[in-house]
Amino acid sequence: MQANGPIGVFDSGYGGLTVLKEIVDKLPQYNYVYMGDNARAPYGTRSFETVYQYTLECVEWFFKQGCPLVILACNTASAKALRTIQQKDLPRIGKDKRVLGVIRPTTEVIGNYSKTGEVGILGTTGTVQSGSYPIEIEKFFPEIKVCQEACPIWVPLVENNEYDSPGADFFVKKHLDHLLGQSEKIDTILLACTHYPLLKNKIMEHVSTGTTILSQGEIVANSLVEYMARHPEMEQRCDKGGKFDFFTTDSTEDFDKHATIFFGKPVRSKHLDLSV
Ligand code: DGL
Repeated sequence: MQANGPIGVFDSGYGGLTVLKEIVDKLPQYNYVYMGDNARAPYGTRSFETVYQYTLECVEWFFKQGCPLVILACNTASAKALRTIQQKDLPRIGKDKRVLGVIRPTTEVIGNYSKTGEVGILGTTGTVQSGSYPIEIEKFFPEIKVCQEACPIWVPLVENNEYDSPGADFFVKKHLDHLLGQSEKIDTILLACTHYPLLKNKIMEHVSTGTTILSQGEIVANSLVEYMARHPEMEQRCDKGGKFDFFTTDSTEDFDKHATIFFGKPVRSKHLDLSV
C-alpha cells in the first residue's frame, strides 16, 4: 500500500511562495509542506552540478516527510535538475512518487498570450543559460520567436526587501531595455523566476500598455488542477485537511517576515538542517 502525505512545494528561497499561494487558492483541500533552501540561495548563479545536488537533497527530504508529489516551484531547479531527478534518481529514491516543475506548464500555454508571435523571457542566469524555455516553447509553439534576458540582480533585490525601492527601478529598467532592445515586437513577457512577481508593478511602469506580463503562479496552479484530474491514483495519495508546514534552511525569523509578504498570509516556519 502506497503511503499518503502532503504535497511538497520547493524553492531556493521565498519565490515559490508566490506559486504556493495560487495553488492553495485553486486547491485549498490538500495539506502542503513548503521548503525554502534560503541558506544556499540564490541558486540562479550556481553551476548545473551544484543546483542538481542541492535540489536532489531537498527532494529526498520531501520524500522523507512522506510527500508523494513535489513541485519544484523554482525555474532554476526546474531547468537544471528536474529532468535528471525524474529520469535518473526517481527509480532509486521514489519509484511511486512524482516531481513536477514550472517550465513545462508555462511553455504549454505561453504562445496563446502573444498576438505578435514574439515573447520575452526574464529569468535567472541559470535558467536563461540552460536554454530550457526556447527549447520547450519550440515543442509547443514552433512559430513563436523567443528572446531572453538574464536578470542576476533581481533575486537579491527581492530577497533583501528592496523590490519596491527606487534603487530597484534602475535594474528593472536596465534588463527590460536589454530584452525589448532585442525586438520591438515582443508583446508578452514571462516572469520566468518565481521571485519576480514582486517586481511586477515596477516592470509594468517600464513597458508599453499593451504588453502582457505573465507570472507563473496561476498557470502552474491550473496545470496542477488538471494533473490531479488526470491522475486520480496520485490525487488520492495527497493528504487533505488544508494544513501548512513551512521550513527554511536559514533563520526562521527572517523567513517569517519575508514569507508573509510573498504568501500574503502570516507564516510560522521551522528551521531545517539538511545535514542531519
Ligand atoms: N526563484 C527561483 C527561480 O524561479 C530562483 C531564485 C534563485 O536564484 O535562487 O528561478
